[in-house]
Amino acid sequence: MINFEINGKAVSIDAEPDTPLLWAIRDEVGLTGTKFGCGIGMCGACTVHVGGRATRSCITPISAVEGTSVTTIEGLAVEDNHPVQEAWRNLRVPQCGYCQSGQIMQAAALLEDIPAPTDDDIDAVMTGNLCRCMTYPRIREAVRQAAT
Ligand code: FES
Repeated sequence: MINFEINGKAVSIDAEPDTPLLWAIRDEVGLTGTKFGCGIGMCGACTVHVGGRATRSCITPISAVEGTSVTTIEGLAVEDNHPVQEAWRNLRVPQCGYCQSGQIMQAAALLEDIPAPTDDDIDAVMTGNLCRCMTYPRIREAVRQAAT
């Protein structure tokens, strides 16, 4: 059993230690807001927070989160009203939406680290989160808005 917290709730998952955290979140816990994109840590669709740090859940073995606290898009804010989520809605950032939970989790972690980021800061951190719909200008603007 691997024991950790997810969105404030204790969970015990019976899985092989090298099971990707992403599959535990989606298939065992049943939270499907975290998405599978590439499976090799390159796209950011699967981004969650582990101990408050943005983490690619597709390449994180579940054994690595034993005793830690994981936050997914479903747990970012009680009423989906995190400043990043508000800005995303205000600016209608998503197009197809598939990558956006990962984008939001990455942006929220960015603002924890750098509360007033420059455009260079935003680009440096968000560049690892890919969007096939090319919503990048709106993402940058939303991060700016969430920071104010
Ligand atoms: Fe994890 Fe692409 S699915 S980085």
